[in-house]
Amino acid sequence: MKAEELRRLYIEFFKTRGHKEIPSASLIPENDPTVLFTTAGMHPLVPYLTGQQKHPMGNRLVNCQKCIRTQDIEEVGDESHTTFFEMLGNWSLGDYFKEEAIKMSWEFLTDEKWLALDKNKIAISIFKGDGDAPFDKESKDIWIRVGVCEDRIAALPKDKNWWGPAGNVGPCGPDTEMFFYVGSEEEPPPQSNPETDELNWLEIWNDVFMEYGKTSAGKYEPLKQKNVDTGLGLERVACVLQGKTDIYTIELFEPIIKKLEGLTGKSYETQDCKKSFRIIADHIRAATFILGDDKAIVPSNVDQGYVLRKYIRRIIRHGRIMGVNKKFCSELAEVVIGVMKDPWKELEKNKLFILSELSAEEDRFNKTITQGLKEFDKTVKGYEKAFEATGKKISIISGKHAFKLYDTYGFPLEMTDELAEEKGLEVDHKGFNKCFQEHQKKSRIGAEKKFKGGLEDDSEKVIRFHTATHLLHQALRIILGKHVQQRGSNITSERLRFDFSHPDKLSDMQIKKVEELVNTAIEKGMDVKRKEMTPAEAAKQEAIGLFGDRYGEKVTVYSIGDFSKEICAGPHVSNTKELGRFKITKEQSSSAGIRRIRAVLEGL
Ligand code: ALA
Repeated sequence: MKAEELRRLYIEFFKTRGHKEIPSASLIPENDPTVLFTTAGMHPLVPYLTGQQKHPMGNRLVNCQKCIRTQDIEEVGDESHTTFFEMLGNWSLGDYFKEEAIKMSWEFLTDEKWLALDKNKIAISIFKGDGDAPFDKESKDIWIRVGVCEDRIAALPKDKNWWGPAGNVGPCGPDTEMFFYVGSEEEPPPQSNPETDELNWLEIWNDVFMEYGKTSAGKYEPLKQKNVDTGLGLERVACVLQGKTDIYTIELFEPIIKKLEGLTGKSYETQDCKKSFRIIADHIRAATFILGDDKAIVPSNVDQGYVLRKYIRRIIRHGRIMGVNKKFCSELAEVVIGVMKDPWKELEKNKLFILSELSAEEDRFNKTITQGLKEFDKTVKGYEKAFEATGKKISIISGKHAFKLYDTYGFPLEMTDELAEEKGLEVDHKGFNKCFQEHQKKSRIGAEKKFKGGLEDDSEKVIRFHTATHLLHQALRIILGKHVQQRGSNITSERLRFDFSHPDKLSDMQIKKVEELVNTAIEKGMDVKRKEMTPAEAAKQEAIGLFGDRYGEKVTVYSIGDFSKEICAGPHVSNTKELGRFKITKEQSSSAGIRRIRAVLEGL
C-alpha cells in the first residue's frame, strides 16, 4: 500500500466513526513563542485540549499534519528516523477515552478491511506509573481484551510512555504505543517486546491519554476534560505495509534517492554513502516544506530561519562528501515538490520562492566554504610559524579554532576533521565540545530571556498582543490596500511581530496613520466577539482569511466592533480597552515582497 492510500484510508476510517477532518496547520506555530515548529498534530489543538475553547468542528477530529522534529536530527541516517514527517492523527476532545481509542487503533491496524497488519507482529507499551500518575492497568486490560498476548505488552516509565507537552507547559499524559516487528526472524520470538528487544520493534502509532496539564512549576494537574491525542507516522507505516524496513526506500523517498544517484554517480545500495543519502533526502524535504509554508520563512541566523539554514548547509556538505561540487539543492527540491504536491498544494504554489531561496543560500554557503577554507589554512600556517619559532610542534587543531570554523563559516566538525587529517593534524574534540556547550548555554539563556514567560507565564500579555495584531492587520488593509495579507506572526511577552505582503517600505506618514487607526479602535472600547460559521459565510461577511481549501466545514471568526473580522482560533481579550496604547517600534523588510512590523503596547 502506498502512502497516498494510507492517508486516504486513515481519514475515511475515522470519518466513519464520527470524526471531522480538519486541515493541516502551518509548520510554523501561530502565536506560540515556546517552539519553532509544529511537532505533532495536537499542537494547533492546545486551546481545545485544555477545554478553554470548543472546537468549531466538534469533539472528534482527524487529519494529516506536516511536522518537523529537529531534536531527532542526530538520529537521521538510520533506517527509520526523519526530522520531517507526516502525522496521521485522531482526537477526542473530552469525548471517547481509552477503551474506544484502543479498539479503533487495533481495528484500523489489523482488520482485513483496513490495514490488515499481522497481529502476531504487533507489540504494545503502556505507562508503568510513578508519583505523577498511576500504572495504566486499564489500557493493559483493554489490549488483552482485544487479543494482544500479555508477553507482548511492556510497561515502561515516563521517559518512554508519557507524551507532551509540546512546549514547556500544556496538555500531556500517559500513552500507549504500538510497535511492529522489524527483526530478522519470520515471527517475533516468544516474550519479545519493546522492552526486552527494543531494536527489533518499530514504533508506528501512539495513543496519548491527555488528561493532565503540566504547569510552569513542573506540576501535573488534571485537565477540565479527558482527551485522546494520537499520532501515526505515515512514512513508517507505509514502510511496514510495503514489507520494508528502510523507510527511505518507500515511494515518497525513492525519486529523491534516484535523483541523488544521478547527481553523484553513486548507488544507494552500497553501504558507504547511505547515511549521506538519507540525511540529504530528509533535509531537502524539511527545507522544501519550511520554504513552501505560507509563512515565508527564509534562511537566517535566528529561529526557524536558522534551522532552515542548517538543513541546507548539511545538504551541501553531504553533497560534497558524495562528490557533488555543483549547485544541486533546487533540482532536488523540484523532485520533492513533484512527489509531494498532492496533497501539499502550497509547494506548487510557492515553488518559485522555494527554488530561488535555496539557490541563494547555496550561493552564500559556497562563499563561506571558501572563506572558511582560507581561515583553516591561516590557522595551519600559524601553527607552522609557531613551530619554526619555538621548535615545538603543534599537531592538534584547538577546539576554539574548530568551533570558529563551525560557528562562523558553517563547517560541521567532521569536515574540519577531514581537512585536519590531510595535514597530518587532529582536532581537539573535547575543546570543541566545551566551546559548543558554552555557546549553547549562552543561546539558551538568550532564548529563555527572549521568550521569558512566553505563553505560559504571561498569557495575559500574549492575548493582548494577539488582539492588537488583528487591529494592526485591518489598519494596514485600510491604509495600504486589500493586498495586505498576514504572512507570519510571532508574539513574545514583550512585543508583537507581524509579517505581511506589501511591496514597499512604509512611509512615516503611513506608519503614523496605522498607529492612529489602531489606537482609535482601542480607545472606542470595542467588544471582541467570537462566532462559528461555515467558511462560505465567513467569506460572505468579508472576514480576513486565506480560504481556498484551507479550512474545514466550520471556522471561528473573531470580530472587533465593526472594525475587524478575521478567521482565527483565538484566544483574545473581550474588549479593546484592555490593550493600552499601540506603538510601532520598527518597520523593515522581511523578504522579497514581505514587510515586517514590530509593535508594543504601552501604559499597561
Ligand atoms: N502527540 C502524540 C505524538 O506525537 C500523538 O506522538
